[in-house]
Parts: sequence; C-alpha cells; structure tokens
Amino acid sequence: MKITLSVIKADIGGYVGHSESHPDILAKAEECLARHKKSGLLVDYHVTKCGDDLQLIMTHQRGEENEEIHRLAWDTFVEGTKLAKTLGLYGAGQDLLSDAFSGNVKGMGPGIAEMEIEERKSEPVLIFMADKTSSGAWNMPLYKMFADPFNSIGLVIALSMHEGFSFEVHDVKDHKKITLNSPEEIYDLLIYIGAPGRYAVKAVYSRATGEIAAVSSTQRLSLIAGRYVGKDDPVCIVRSQGVFPAVGEVLEPFAFPHLVEGWMRGSHHGPFMPVSVADSIPSRFDGPPRVTCLGFQLTEGKLVGPRDMFADISFDNARQQANDVADYMRRHGPFEPHRLPLEEMEYTTMPEIAEKLAFRFEDLQE
Ligand code: 13P
Ligand code: 13P
Ligand code: MG
Ligand code: MG
Repeated sequence: MKITLSVIKADIGGYVGHSESHPDILAKAEECLARHKKSGLLVDYHVTKCGDDLQLIMTHQRGEENEEIHRLAWDTFVEGTKLAKTLGLYGAGQDLLSDAFSGNVKGMGPGIAEMEIEERKSEPVLIFMADKTSSGAWNMPLYKMFADPFNSIGLVIALSMHEGFSFEVHDVKDHKKITLNSPEEIYDLLIYIGAPGRYAVKAVYSRATGEIAAVSSTQRLSLIAGRYVGKDDPVCIVRSQGVFPAVGEVLEPFAFPHLVEGWMRGSHHGPFMPVSVADSIPSRFDGPPRVTCLGFQLTEGKLVGPRDMFADISFDNARQQANDVADYMRRHGPFEPHRLPLEEMEYTTMPEIAEKLAFRFEDLQE
C-alpha cells in the first residue's frame, strides 16, 4: 500500500516566551486534524510539540507536496495563530511568513518533511523533532546512522545494509543539490555536511533497493525571511529495520549531544539534548537545544503509537553530558565559539555599531 507520511511544523506562538507550546494550541490543532480524518483526507494523524513548535504528523494517500494536505496544515497554523493571539502567546504566528496560501507551504515559513512509501509488512518509523536549532543539526546523526559502522553495525553484519546508502545533500544558500554514495564517497560527503550551516542532508536512500530511508526539513527561515524570525527547528523522518538501520542504531547517534547552532536568540552553539516530549521545555538560556523522537508502527497508514523514544533512562548520560557542556559553553558568555561567528549570527548590532564608530577607526601604521 502506498502511503505518504507528512510532518509539517511551525512555531505559531510560545508559552512562556519561547519555552513551550500552550496546551490549548495543541487541542485546537487536534480538533482541526480530527475533522480532516473524518472527511477522509487524512488516514491518520498525531499532534505533538517540541518546545514552542507545533508538530503535525499526518498520513494520507495524496503523495508529497499535495495542495490539500499543505492547505490543511496552513489553515491549522492560521487558526492556531488566532488563538495564540487571544492568549497573548509570545511571537504569535512567528513562522507564518506569508499572508496567503498559494498551493504549497514550502518557502512560507513552516518546516516540512514528507515521504511517499510502499508500506512494508512491518514499518517502524521514527520522527525526530528539534527546538532551538537549525536544519543542519541532522547531518551528524544521519551520517552516523547510515554511514558509520561504529554506530550502525548492521552496515557490516547485515547483508541488507551492506551495499550502503546514498545521501542527497542540499546547498541551502545556492539552492543546488548533489547525491553522494556511502561508503566509497564518504570523504567527499563529509567535506560538505561537516559544514551544516550551508549543506544539509535532505534525504537518504538504500542502495540495495532504492527505497527512501530518511527525509529532513531543510528550510532556513532566516534565508526565506531575510531577517531573524526564530530558528528553523527542523524535523526528520527515518524508516527503520529490514534494509534500514535497526531502531537502536537510528537512536544511538543521539547518545552524543553534539554541538549545534541555535540556543539563545538563535546565535549560539550548544549541546543537542535528547529528551522526552514532556521535557522539551527549553528554559535555560532558552535551551539548551532539544531533540525529541516519537516512534510509530505504520500500519495501513495508521500511526500505531507513539512511543516516546528518548524517555528511556539510557539517554540519561547524554542529558547529563549535555548539561555539563551547557555549563562549559555558557561560561564563554558573548565570546566565540559559544557565540556564533559574526556572519552566522541571527541577531547582531554590528552594522549599527560599525556605522556609529566608523569615524573613530584609524589606519594602522605598519
Ligand atoms: P529481535 O531479535 O528482538 O527482533 O531484534 C533484532 C534486531 O534487529 C535488534 O537490533
Ligand atoms: P524559536 O526559534 O524556538 O522561536 O526560538 C527563538 C529564540 O530566539 C530563542 O531565544
Ligand atoms: Mg518561538
Ligand atoms: Mg522553536
């Protein structure tokens, strides 16, 4: 059976500040999606949040980039924004960068990850959601899942994975893409995806079957808006088991809380902390950046689940390490590498200050 899994998300207002989503907003979204399940447009759905981002997880049979599905997500965000305004939520409608829907939510602010698949007899899927970081945050975990044999031993010992995976990489600034094959091109792959501010892994495919293994949202809000309007707070869908890595191999990269950009005012590096949905409440210095993961068994399009994958105590050490790294990074205050390099900062006073002080700069006599 062909089924499309669409995850569409937006920050339409924070409670309190940028720290969480208000329960009434989640209830409103639930109401909207229930209507569309009843009408038959959706096969199934699950509404959740990651920090201040509202997440619509939907299954249907309309394929990717379908106008009706995108319209339903857009309308849900618009309705939610109205409610967010009456509640006085912070940054109500923050990620809706356009006033009118024109057929597709791409480029309008919300983040999107979609895949149309031929559902397998058993189809475990893992949906990763992040807050307080940008789209390149998935590069390292996706590399580890699909290309690193020290993470995914299946690459070595499971025939179904032994042929490796191919990575579709997007240059988010120049709007170009390239596909690179693992294992033979991993050095070429890493020169790009090791620079996640510019190059983001959009999708991963099994080389044995050609099937899609993973897809992420690569929308860069600041590039769309031309100014800072909050971080991208990306999502990523990963299929598991069979020709794909096992569930535990997919989750394992998050046992290392690697440094990502985001955190306070979108302008700092901080550790990517894996947490349960309940703990996705980034409050310390508006962070540190969070990642949640919901697991489902997709069965004839039904989202059997969710299981809150990072609720597991085996991620306690990663959380502890993330807190220790957060302490360490915070002590740098406004200095790099805690603060992002000048050209990467979402917030900056530099142009104004440079103009004000220009006349006081003297040439060095060298
Ligand atoms: P089971 O034998 O419990 O199905 O586990 C297989 C597996 O892939 C574990 O990673
Ligand atoms: P969000 O992108 O999650 O809204 O966070 C914005 C911010 O500036 C936090 O300090
Ligand atoms: Mg926000
Ligand atoms: Mg957010």
